[in-house]
Amino acid sequence: MCGIISYLGNRKNAGKLIVDGLKKLEYRGYDSFGFVEAVPSTSSGQRNGKFKLTKKVGKISEFPSSTFHFPLSNLALGHTRWATHGKVNRANAHPHLSADRKVAVIHNGIVENHAALRKELQKKGVQFASDTDTEVIPNLIAEFLKRGNLREAVRKTAKKLKGRFAFVAMVEGEKKLIAARNGSPLIVGIEKFFPKSDDRLISKIDGSAFFIASDVPAFLNFTRDVVYLDDGEMVEIEPSPKKDHFHAHFFEIENGDEIKKRVISIDWKAEKAEKGDFAHFMLKEIFEQKETIERALNQDERQIEKVAGLIRKSFGTFFIGCGTAGKVCATAEYLFAKIARRHVNVIFGSEFDTQEPFLTERTLLIAVSQSGETADVLEAYKIAKKRGVQTVGVVNTEGSSVARHSDVVLPVNAGMEKAVASTKATTAQLAILTLLAYAVAGKLDEGRQMLAEAASQINDLLNPRYSEHLEKIARKIKNVESLYIIGKAADYPMALEAAIKLQEVSYIHAEGFAAGELKHGPLALISRGTPLIAFVPTGEYRADVLSNVAEVQARGGRIIGVSAENDDLFDEWIRVPNVGNAQPIVNIIPIQLLAYHLAVLRKNNPDLPRNLAKSVTVK
Ligand code: G6P
Repeated sequence: MCGIISYLGNRKNAGKLIVDGLKKLEYRGYDSFGFVEAVPSTSSGQRNGKFKLTKKVGKISEFPSSTFHFPLSNLALGHTRWATHGKVNRANAHPHLSADRKVAVIHNGIVENHAALRKELQKKGVQFASDTDTEVIPNLIAEFLKRGNLREAVRKTAKKLKGRFAFVAMVEGEKKLIAARNGSPLIVGIEKFFPKSDDRLISKIDGSAFFIASDVPAFLNFTRDVVYLDDGEMVEIEPSPKKDHFHAHFFEIENGDEIKKRVISIDWKAEKAEKGDFAHFMLKEIFEQKETIERALNQDERQIEKVAGLIRKSFGTFFIGCGTAGKVCATAEYLFAKIARRHVNVIFGSEFDTQEPFLTERTLLIAVSQSGETADVLEAYKIAKKRGVQTVGVVNTEGSSVARHSDVVLPVNAGMEKAVASTKATTAQLAILTLLAYAVAGKLDEGRQMLAEAASQINDLLNPRYSEHLEKIARKIKNVESLYIIGKAADYPMALEAAIKLQEVSYIHAEGFAAGELKHGPLALISRGTPLIAFVPTGEYRADVLSNVAEVQARGGRIIGVSAENDDLFDEWIRVPNVGNAQPIVNIIPIQLLAYHLAVLRKNNPDLPRNLAKSVTVK
């Protein structure tokens, strides 16, 4: 959901740094982009800090750097957009300038009261150039600047905004970056951090350059020293009295009081975020599942046992997640029932507020999130905290909001996932929830062994021949209008997840059902040649699911069986190993490959599907 990055420091190619950074953030939004560079004085002394604004519609990755002319500049900010308010066009692309063109702003989130603020500003004669909610921000700053300094103007502006937001501003002629956060992520990267002592909890940080971005990858090539801004906080970056140094200063939005922040050294590796020899990140990440599932199992035993203890003690455990993570959560209901004989509640992040009356200090909330920044999950956390609920985060992104606000964190360890459609994070999350169910049953070692065996089978399964087999099936069904997926027990949420995967990247209408539910309605949708993907178990439930498959076959459906054993009913057989309670993990992998090949055959970009974004930081 909108990627933002800004830079102030010693380097003189700020514009290029911003463009390179935006290319790394493209997964956040990719309908249009833009940046502003502050151009210092030339020999004729004419452009003292003047703004140079560039905006384009389209994906930034499709514009080579040679498209742009970068003037010498050490101060710039940029944005890659996922539209919320206003169509995709140049006018609505960020950065947005105030009507007097003195203030430039990039923003991620939604200003819920933008209509009222716009009216207020219009009454004062401000003319708007776009349909966005964002444009009120630079204009409010410009208004407050008439009566105060930049920090106060930004602080007062931030206080007026309702909704979740993160924005960065700069003013023509001032060597400053200033940013505020309330709900959407904002991270300060410090190039060449100069600590004054061992103490990393400081209110004024010295460095040779600073980045402020929505995500770490934007500046990972330059530094691993970061400060995470929390809600209600702002940061100001400006030149320090020391030559060639800059400093970052932190404040509260509410009253402007100075605050101390901790500088953290993160352990991310930049090279992991490149796609290497693979045609797309999605394919690379599918193949990485050879290792990631095993890595997910490498949990601190004490932490797993601690969470298992919390589940046992709780009066009501809720698993929450959104999108794919929500489907992962839905498997928990089946896994915990079967493995641990325990009932758990599952609900999408966006629906959690409906459960508020049932939350007490004995409730446990377990959030599953790849990014750790999904707004619907963070809103659920707010409610949980209010009610004294304990929280556990199963999160892939170190330092993310969910990770920082959870009482206990179980790291997913899948490494950075860049393709919008989640694959390796999904199976790693599934492995952790399965392990947790075993821990609750008091059988952690047994669970670990079973999952390690499954991981090694996945290692054997994921090879180019397997991928070719899926591509052949994709060729046969690439022009269908609709397809359906069924599964029973924990394979039912996997049928839902398979549907999401296929929808996201192939744009084919796909729907998942509980196997036994087809005959209660959806069977009417089956006609000659309609593909049905069926997760068919080998033991318990095989006969049940095969009867449901037969009902579809009898109506002309084309059956694609995902199973460890073939069957006469199958038109196509996708072989998977038999891995007991790890079956959902194994079953989803061929569907990820099928979705990938369908996307490529239908000429879609599987990494950046239309209308979507990797991390959704608005409600
Ligand atoms: C977005 C992404 C999905 C993802 C969901 C939850 O909608 O496009 O792929 O499953 O957010 O994201 P999270 O980061 O919380 O797992």
